[in-house]
Amino acid sequence: MTWSQDRFNETIHFAAIAHGSQRVPGQPYSYVVHLANVAMEVMAALASSEGIDADLAIACALLHDTIEDTATSAADIEEKFGTAVRAGVEALTKNKALPESEQMTDSLNRILEQPPAVGMAKMADRITNLQKPPGHWRTEKIRDYYEEAKVIHQRLGHLHLGLSKRLETRLERYIRYFSEGAVGSP
Ligand code: NI
Repeated sequence: MTWSQDRFNETIHFAAIAHGSQRVPGQPYSYVVHLANVAMEVMAALASSEGIDADLAIACALLHDTIEDTATSAADIEEKFGTAVRAGVEALTKNKALPESEQMTDSLNRILEQPPAVGMAKMADRITNLQKPPGHWRTEKIRDYYEEAKVIHQRLGHLHLGLSKRLETRLERYIRYFSEGAVGSP
């Protein structure tokens, strides 16, 4: 399975400009580190995949938060990356008009209407995020985040076995933060 290095380069530059000075929550470094890690998870998974649109998966990984968290519009994405990437990133974007408790289910429903590449980016995002929680998170929030990740695993796991297993491992590891809270070791 191959993908375009030039496309990766172009896309990560676009995302870096869009996210500007945003940082990874609770960390002193650029948000682009998060995006690069999500793309890395996707690329590792693609190495053992057939029949997946690799460029779509990588574009969705790098752009997954551009509509939600930056001034970038869906039309901007379409103009630069085409309709498939726009549709993928839109599916990965929460609909803030819905009650917060329904936003994840709604996004997952829309992700499942897209090619598997889009769901792979979602799993890779949560794998990347199941690390030591930011210092200000309370135990309840940590548990909610875990439960939400379990739903992602249940609904999208069938899309890619390797990512599904990786998410499972991260879920098991994340339980340690229930009692330790955010003061535990990473
Ligand atoms: Ni993310």
